Amino acid sequence: MGSIYFFFLFFLFFLRIELILAADTITPTRFIRDGETLVSSRESFELGFFSPGNSTKRYLGIWYKKSNKTVVWVANRNNPIIDRQGVLTISNYGNLVLLNTTNSIIWSSNTSRKVENPVAQLLDSGNLVLKDNFSEGSESYLWQSFDYPSDTLLPGMKLGWDLKTGVERYLTSWKSSDDPSYGDFTYRLDIHVLPQIFIYNGSTKLARTGPWNGVFFGGVHGSLNFVFEKTFVHNENEIYYRYESLNNPVIMLTKITHSGSFQRLIWKDRGSIWDFVFSAPHDLCDYYGKCSANGVCSIDKAPICECLQGFIPGSQQNQTSPTTCVRSSPLDCRSGDRFIKLTGLRLPDLVETSLNDTMSLQECESKCLKDCSCKAYANSNSSGGGRGCLMWSGDLIDIRKHVNESSGQDLYIRVPASEQVSDLNENRRRKIIVAVSVISGILIFFSLLFCIWKKITKKARLTTVQDNKEEEEDVNVHLFDLSTIATATNNFSRENLIGAGGFGPVYKGTLSTGEEVAVKRLSNNSGQGAEEFRNEVNLIAKLQHRNLVGLFGSCIQGEERLLIYEYMPNKSLDYFIFDQKKAGLLTWRRRFDIVMGIARGLLYLHQDSKLQIIHRDLKASNILLDNDLNPKISDFGLARIFRGDDKEATTKRVVGTYGYMSPEYTIDGTFSVKSDVFSFGVFLLEIISGKKNRGFSHPAHHHNLLGHAWLLWNETRALELIDSCLADSCVQSQVLRCVQVGLLCVQKFPDDRPAMSTVVFMLANKEAILAQPRQPGFFTERSSVEMHSTSRKAELHTDNSVTISTLEGR
Ligand SMILES: *[C@@H]1O[C@H](CO)[C@@H](O)[C@H](O)[C@H]1NC(C)=O
Ligand SMILES: *[C@@H]1O[C@H](CO)[C@@H](O)[C@H](O)[C@H]1NC(C)=O
Ligand SMILES: *[C@@H]1O[C@H](CO)[C@@H](O)[C@H](O)[C@H]1NC(C)=O
Ligand SMILES: *[C@@H]1O[C@H](CO)[C@@H](O)[C@H](O)[C@H]1NC(C)=O
Ligand SMILES: *[C@@H]1O[C@H](CO)[C@@H](O)[C@H](O)[C@H]1NC(C)=O
Ligand SMILES: *[C@@H]1O[C@H](CO)[C@@H](O)[C@H](O)[C@H]1NC(C)=O
Ligand SMILES: *[C@@H]1O[C@H](CO)[C@@H](O)[C@H](O)[C@H]1NC(C)=O
Ligand SMILES: *[C@@H]1O[C@H](CO)[C@@H](O)[C@H](O)[C@H]1NC(C)=O
Ligand SMILES: *[C@@H]1O[C@H](CO)[C@@H](O)[C@H](O)[C@H]1NC(C)=O
Ligand SMILES: *[C@@H]1O[C@H](CO)[C@@H](O)[C@H](O)[C@H]1NC(C)=O
Repeated sequence: MGSIYFFFLFFLFFLRIELILAADTITPTRFIRDGETLVSSRESFELGFFSPGNSTKRYLGIWYKKSNKTVVWVANRNNPIIDRQGVLTISNYGNLVLLNTTNSIIWSSNTSRKVENPVAQLLDSGNLVLKDNFSEGSESYLWQSFDYPSDTLLPGMKLGWDLKTGVERYLTSWKSSDDPSYGDFTYRLDIHVLPQIFIYNGSTKLARTGPWNGVFFGGVHGSLNFVFEKTFVHNENEIYYRYESLNNPVIMLTKITHSGSFQRLIWKDRGSIWDFVFSAPHDLCDYYGKCSANGVCSIDKAPICECLQGFIPGSQQNQTSPTTCVRSSPLDCRSGDRFIKLTGLRLPDLVETSLNDTMSLQECESKCLKDCSCKAYANSNSSGGGRGCLMWSGDLIDIRKHVNESSGQDLYIRVPASEQVSDLNENRRRKIIVAVSVISGILIFFSLLFCIWKKITKKARLTTVQDNKEEEEDVNVHLFDLSTIATATNNFSRENLIGAGGFGPVYKGTLSTGEEVAVKRLSNNSGQGAEEFRNEVNLIAKLQHRNLVGLFGSCIQGEERLLIYEYMPNKSLDYFIFDQKKAGLLTWRRRFDIVMGIARGLLYLHQDSKLQIIHRDLKASNILLDNDLNPKISDFGLARIFRGDDKEATTKRVVGTYGYMSPEYTIDGTFSVKSDVFSFGVFLLEIISGKKNRGFSHPAHHHNLLGHAWLLWNETRALELIDSCLADSCVQSQVLRCVQVGLLCVQKFPDDRPAMSTVVFMLANKEAILAQPRQPGFFTERSSVEMHSTSRKAELHTDNSVTISTLEGR
């Protein structure tokens, strides 16, 4: 009888644990022990004890239930429990407390207000709240975990300041993945002068956004606006930043990692991975003060640092250490200075800055002019046409030029009246000079000047490839005579033939000036009129980037359509990497530089240029090397000439090269930037392995290169992929990262593939968390052999990567 009673008690005991497990609340009489958890009502979050990474210490935390226990909040960060005897309960004083075996308080919510019926509840937002059971609403919370963020900002959490209590909510990184105690990095909203968001390393600024300009934080780029809805609230009670999921219920978070990187992540059920959508610092120019004071950082220039106008480098220019920028001539407040307008910038940091938010821009200018210590000014609020006045009186620190002008702001910097207008405003000055000349009627002088000017600009274009935005207005491609080109190429002789791409043969030519050029003779089926063609070429000529081949001119005569490019003496990349004898010339370091260059060039085409260009035929033989082995993408924009409209998502005529073409493009004829990403991934795996994707067939399992790489990756033997001649020069971690990025790029589904901006980031950042790749498209060689049968054999080709020029889509 007694044993039955005991059994009954035992049963009741377990029933009680069951009840606790299913619950989302704790009361003074209900507690949780190590091993038990609270689960929020819709099972989004779970609260309990855990040990991070390899640690054996116990912490109380909250994690996303559906995403491999991703911990988003930790209570006893700096005070772990050493055994599995911890208990979370509500104390007699109405506090939420964490106790160890000896009933010592390990952690407490420290609330001062006492209530009759305290209840702690884990809400479905991930917020653990302590409240009176009989009062409703967030106002009545005695305590909430959202007020004490760890390293993670969840949707709905506030980052910023409660102005009434003076409490700041900010993120502090973990020390390491095994140790949630306070790390070095913090992510916080600074409200000095105007709100800016900073990442700090200890007390040192590591990165920042521009100031809040009434519309956005200057230059916050790469964010996924269709998933993260951001709100910034600024009133007399509080200043905070917050985001919500636009697409409920998306599992997402933003966090500051233990290595100091700020990341936005979205959980993908398919694959069970965190997909990484944004991170900062994003590139070199994001690092605080990368360039010296009074310098400006532009990621698409080399070197990336330049001095502002009116300043010159104070020491030898050197990309690794910032130059100092000093005034080229001193300001003279009395005799009158003037201001130069710079556009598309992340404004300088707000040190030694004053703000008046009612002034207009004109008032701001005259105020700044009168004040001899004022070095620069800008609008403080961009909404409604711009108003307010920010004035800097010290050095101008951490200025960045944005690639996308519209995410930046205008800054007016003070220069002496005598300051020569330098290159940025050169065009405007030229126009003024010209106008004055006309007015004074010195027509002869004008035409002379114009001739000289034309000659100079042409020469400049022939010798350097600049990416000066203002200059673009004047880019008008030189029109060559057919006879000039025929002479230069020895009448398009076979001896001068140096290659063939998807759009026609390429000849080497020598102009009468001795200048060497490459002439592309387009197969005459572009179906475009002369005028239309010229417009297209002018558009393409505006694309200038150091990793794109420079276009000198064109020639249109009758049916002939020629493009004249700078000549690349070192031929194309395939000439090196697929040749056993020459492969050794390209060390791993060189190869990695080439990969980075191509990634940047492609990013420019996809995102940063004014036109969005999809290359559609990226491959090793379209990557040319200059004298210093800098890589340059050729044949970009040609797809545009042949198609007219790049925005269209599908095409009947597939242009590309088997082995590099993505599945959706080959099969359905649909293309997007992600088709280029696929080709880039193939190229990346090729340059690592020194093997062609097409033509590679593993003796045993008949996979193509992608399949082979995928198998090796899954068996964690990815290092075996590397070209044997690189064995000595390679950096293993870098190789592995490249293989992983390559595999991410060649994933079967376009949506799974990263954008080029992410690719550049992942390649350049050792700390970036990379997703696990999924199976690549075109896993086996067999499928590409089948496709080969439908291809038209091209007339000219140097290898078996036949470029397809016509192929009707199914
Ligand atoms: C845990 O320890 C193992 C072996 O010591 C190590 O390989 C692994 O990287 C560690 N994991 C973490 C997250 O530190
Ligand atoms: C409980 O915590 C107290 C205070 O931190 C500590 O002195 C004590 O050793 C702990 N007891 C156990 C069993 O861990
Ligand atoms: C609670 O107060 C104690 C003593 O004032 C302090 O040591 C502890 O850090 C506080 N805990 C929290 C979570 O703020
Ligand atoms: C809280 O209030 C509800 C009814 O409003 C009641 O059912 C529940 O038992 C109360 N819990 C506590 C711990 O007082
Ligand atoms: C953070 O600062 C420490 C020294 O203060 C330095 O060693 C470390 O490299 C810095 N980390 C980053 C990511 O800048
Ligand atoms: C999550 O768990 C699944 C299955 O256990 C695993 O395949 C996946 O790699 C894990 N993801 C992460 C980010 O740890
Ligand atoms: C750049 O400057 C740093 C420090 O002055 C020096 O160590 C480095 O060698 C220089 N790099 C080059 C390419 O001149
Ligand atoms: C801002 O400028 C306006 C107009 O010049 C002036 O009336 C006002 O006093 C200024 N406010 C402050 C705080 O200086
Ligand atoms: C910016 O200006 C708009 C109106 O033009 C105003 O509604 C907003 O409050 C201003 N923001 C700040 C931060 O002053
Ligand atoms: C530039 O930024 C603006 C506003 O932030 C955005 O609408 C536009 O799409 C961006 N352009 C590119 C090419 O990213």
